[in-house]
Amino acid sequence: MIVLGIESSCDETACSVVRNGKEILSNVVTSQIDLHQEFGGVVPELASRRHAEVMIPVIDMALKQAGVTLKDVGLIAVAQGPGLVGALMIGLNTAKALSMALGIPFVGVNHIYAHLYAALMDQPQVHFPCLGVVLSGGHTALLQMQDLQTYIPLGRTVDDAIGEAFDKVAKLLGLPYPGGPYIEELAKQGDPFSYPFKAGRLKDRPLDFSFSGLKTAVLYAIQEKMKTDRGLSQQDKCNVSASFQRAAFQDVIQKSLLGTKSLPLPACSTLVFGGGVTNSRTLRNMFTEAAPDLKLIWPAHELTLDNAAMIAGYGYHVYLKQGASGLTEEVYPSL
Ligand code: KG4
Ligand code: ZN
Repeated sequence: MIVLGIESSCDETACSVVRNGKEILSNVVTSQIDLHQEFGGVVPELASRRHAEVMIPVIDMALKQAGVTLKDVGLIAVAQGPGLVGALMIGLNTAKALSMALGIPFVGVNHIYAHLYAALMDQPQVHFPCLGVVLSGGHTALLQMQDLQTYIPLGRTVDDAIGEAFDKVAKLLGLPYPGGPYIEELAKQGDPFSYPFKAGRLKDRPLDFSFSGLKTAVLYAIQEKMKTDRGLSQQDKCNVSASFQRAAFQDVIQKSLLGTKSLPLPACSTLVFGGGVTNSRTLRNMFTEAAPDLKLIWPAHELTLDNAAMIAGYGYHVYLKQGASGLTEEVYPSL
């Protein structure tokens, strides 16, 4: 079955053609980074307008690159949530319109589950249960994956998402948006132990995350440096980046390892990762070092950020299990 995937939950308009949930025939992603860069974060209304402008050209390009036409498409899969309400509506309404006009079924999928499916697309076999670790610009969550369809939330952030914390710290350091890759680069020249930063711990909720205190600690450290005659030097920026990155990733690693022990027997020994922050080589190396005996399944680098291949791929399985969505379906911004 040829599936056309559509993704527009945040600041990427993406369309992809995937055969049978695995074989990616095309994967077109247009980023809106240029549009939001001057604001240091995504402006929802601007995002919706840009999605509306580029959606049809992006679909055309994905079909063309895959060498197929709409006649070949057997299913349309679309990100239904979570995300920005207006942005999601552009994708969902496009999927509904195509579905009605062409008589092709459509299915709405959970963007977070699709991020985890991205890592599984090139895996011949997966042994469940796994621990799903979602680390993106909008979400930070630990999920118990019982199979491809059954996910039980174990922990989530109570304030900033981890990628959002990277972006905010980058802004404090005067770095471009999105800041994660710039922080990773600066951190290479910095001392990760120069500041005793720590991510938040929540009472009686060992698997939940909190990054807003960490971000504030970084703000104060920068302000202290600014007060000195020397100001905030390049080496200070590197040290802040390295210390912040270490604190954020140590927290994720420690809570993820705890999460594997919270799963039912047989003990879970596989972790599946998803989301833009998993692009980080530093994170991958730190995890491998901390958990040499666990199987770590990372998404291919081109599937870490928001994309529609993961939506098409995951949508295929949702459709096989649950059937098509109806035209009365709405978006779920906080799914
Ligand atoms: O998955 P994604 O597109 O966001 C959502 O779906 O919400 O991921 C984007 C996020 C941004 O916050 C960006 O700063 C972060 O991923 N990111 C990184 C790295 N590369 C991207 N964070 C830390 N280190 C990186 N190398
Ligand atoms: Zn995402």
